Amino acid sequence: MEKNARIRRLGRNEKTPYDLLLLADESIESINKYIFDCEIYVLELENKIVAEYALQQINDEEVEIKNIAVTNELQGQGIGKMLLKDAEDKARLRGFKSIAVGTGDVATKQLNLYQKCGFEIFGMKKKFFVENFPSPIYEDGKQLKDMIMLKKKL
Ligand code: ACO
Repeated sequence: MEKNARIRRLGRNEKTPYDLLLLADESIESINKYIFDCEIYVLELENKIVAEYALQQINDEEVEIKNIAVTNELQGQGIGKMLLKDAEDKARLRGFKSIAVGTGDVATKQLNLYQKCGFEIFGMKKKFFVENFPSPIYEDGKQLKDMIMLKKKL
């Protein structure tokens, strides 16, 4: 990663980077269900926001990454791993005991990423993608149905 890359918290008065958030979620409507309860962290390269994650406090012990995305051109270069590590470090420093993340049951790439980074599956939100979206969602030709929930102890 270039030397001038930095991750910072997005200010409350700054524009929500929906273009990036939409890479990880289906619609602005579904993003708006959680984003106002989240802190958004962004990675900037040469003053341009190229990646983000959104962190929501679930309770006194746990935070959840509700959305994580890297701009298309920069995917597969280790930025996703770097963002996950940053989220873990921030949550640990603030005294949280675990960090969670959820992803689609057919999202192989995302599952690979989370499991490689030490997250373990602990549950499933059955039919999440069927019941929460107006039309079926497909990834690599397979319909998304359940949300797999993963967690990492900090
Ligand atoms: N196929 C399979 N696995 C892959 C691929 C791929 N094309 N690309 C990355 N991975 C996996 C690998 O396990 C990789 O580890 P490795 O390099 O040791 O093999 C691991 O992911 C980490 O790779 P990174 O380069 O760090 O990942 P990247 O910077 O691309 O970020 C992310 C991953 C955030 C999923 C990114 O690709 C992205 O923005 N995708 C679109 C949005 C998205 O799907 N977001 C997650 C939705 S779930 C949620 O938001 C809670």
